[in-house]
Amino acid sequence: MKCLLLTLGLALIVSYGTGTDQFTYAGFSNVNLTLDGTASIKPNGLLQLTNGMGQVKGHVFYPAPLDFQNKSANNTVQSFSATFVFGIITDGSSPSNDGMAFFIAPSMNFSDAFPAQFLGLLNPQNNGDPKNHLFAVELDTVSNVEFEDINDNHVGININSLRSNISFAPKFYDSKSGNLEDLSLSSHEPMQVWVDYDGDTNNIDVAIAPLGMAKPMYPLTTITYNLSAVLTETTYLGFSAASSNFGGTQHYVLGWSFRMGGPAPAIDIATLPQLPQIVAKSHSIFSKQSVSFIALVITIFVLTVGTIVYLVRRRFVNADLLEDWEIEFGPHRFSFKDLFQATEGFKDKHLIGRGGFGQVYKGILPTSKTEVAVKRVSHESRQGMREFIAEVVSIGRLRHRNIVQLLGYCRRKRELILVYEYMPNGSLDNYLYTTSDDRPCVGWHERFQIIKGIASGLLYLHESWEQIVIHRDIKSSNVLLDRDMNGRLGDFGLARLYNHGTDPQTTRMAGTFGYIAPELARTGKATPLTDVFAFGILLLELTCGRRPIEGRAQDTPFILVDWVSEHWHNGSLMEAMDTRLQSEYNTDEVCLSLKLGLWCSHPLPNARPNMQQVMLYLEGDLPVPEFIPMDVESKEGFDAHIIFHQSDIGTDIGTMSGLSGGR
Ligand SMILES: *[C@@H]1O[C@H](CO)[C@@H](O)[C@H](O)[C@H]1NC(C)=O
Repeated sequence: MKCLLLTLGLALIVSYGTGTDQFTYAGFSNVNLTLDGTASIKPNGLLQLTNGMGQVKGHVFYPAPLDFQNKSANNTVQSFSATFVFGIITDGSSPSNDGMAFFIAPSMNFSDAFPAQFLGLLNPQNNGDPKNHLFAVELDTVSNVEFEDINDNHVGININSLRSNISFAPKFYDSKSGNLEDLSLSSHEPMQVWVDYDGDTNNIDVAIAPLGMAKPMYPLTTITYNLSAVLTETTYLGFSAASSNFGGTQHYVLGWSFRMGGPAPAIDIATLPQLPQIVAKSHSIFSKQSVSFIALVITIFVLTVGTIVYLVRRRFVNADLLEDWEIEFGPHRFSFKDLFQATEGFKDKHLIGRGGFGQVYKGILPTSKTEVAVKRVSHESRQGMREFIAEVVSIGRLRHRNIVQLLGYCRRKRELILVYEYMPNGSLDNYLYTTSDDRPCVGWHERFQIIKGIASGLLYLHESWEQIVIHRDIKSSNVLLDRDMNGRLGDFGLARLYNHGTDPQTTRMAGTFGYIAPELARTGKATPLTDVFAFGILLLELTCGRRPIEGRAQDTPFILVDWVSEHWHNGSLMEAMDTRLQSEYNTDEVCLSLKLGLWCSHPLPNARPNMQQVMLYLEGDLPVPEFIPMDVESKEGFDAHIIFHQSDIGTDIGTMSGLSGGR
């Protein structure tokens, strides 16, 4: 035994000495931690944070400060990972109160923090203050109206405030039953929580499961928040717990591990201490039976009142629609209230775009202060909504530097609201067809970068993900430009909404006039190759600086692809390029773009390259083979203008997608 302790001691010394910021505790016997308040370590190694008394708080800290800043990357906060096992015990006579939290804070002094709903972390004066530099994951068993808690059993991610940036009802995916099962934080059963921060993407993932289960494949919640602005150079890790007046609740930690820059070491659950057995208070006046009876009566009463209040609220308050099947998407739901606040009530001054699908507003989320683009989509039919939301949520998991991240959604009456990452430089068409002097038309180098970026985003959608994602609406107004003028694809999946929502017999073709492949117009079936067609048109558009179709009012509209193809046949391909580019361009790249654009927008789908090939040509890894574009005459039968002149389809497309390109 002595020998074992010695080894443990040595292990600790070694880990301090080398500065590898990681530790693992399975039980807390003989470990060096800093405790305050009601916190204590029990003889069996349990770490008790609160002891069942009312209005108390307790903290535990890893004794040495940690530095999260990556000195070689601009002092940004690096990735970290923590996991812990906790248990909340109530004495049987009172509901659990108030809660506990895992936190990262700039100091070990929490003497000014309040117990009860402040969880021993903050107080009414400093709650919400960015100077707190506090990150916490709360396990809260009381619903506090002032912090807009979602219920009395939730896990929340809190930054500088007890009002959570995001919170969710704890659930886990039971691989045996295949169902998403509810967890009760105060069930007296030990549970494990995982907290992971990715310093590159700024994603914070939190997952929970009953003790003994593996870490869930998908986190229950993810938010993107740059912790570089939150965590200071010196930080302490720890746990806090607090009770309100009632007391009767004990908060425990059974095991804890942490690693900076990598996944938290596994905790050996076989060696964890046991939670104490529940000791019900003896009731001298009431027998056990009468207690249960009274409890039953109270429960029925509470349920009835609760149901009535719920129904009344649902009817009269501007409640978001929430159906059972949406519960599992909880983390991706935004509350209407937050979005309303973010856009100051969808005021016109925040309007940044208007397209066939709806209006887009710029907003700032109230708690996280993140800039977002909020898109309101009107949707008459509720049919297909479930599939659509499922798709939205799965699209929300797509991550690529050339794709605008979909953050979540909100559903309300006949409206669907999608929340996207905000792109400060707006959409490409505004730069391509600029008439104002203060917004310069983009140069060739930038255009070629955008082309390559969009091609790589599209390749990711088509081939690199677990399922094929077809964008269906590639066009210059759906190419958004980030801070560094990288092109990013936005707005996908929306076209699908219309397909889901309408009678399959009359399924409307989705897409935008000028970018629709001939076979798509004939069959209404979108494939990766219909995306390639639209990408080809976009390529020509970027290289020629002209819209795909101009002057519809005249009898013979200008059709870009036919015009470029004519130049090709006349041996004057380079004359098709944008004259505004003057001399600052690379002839090889321009020529490549024109040829590739023609090839991608070939009327025969099987004649087009796939995105993998497109990428190879764009990167110069393969020379573009010589091919002969079909000339306008021989295209009869697939010809774009024949299709566009079919009035019924034409009108649908026009109204749906906004011919003008969305602004
Ligand atoms: C996070 O913020 C820091 C500055 O606070 C910045 O240097 C860094 O680039 C940001 N990280 C990301 C991924 O945006």
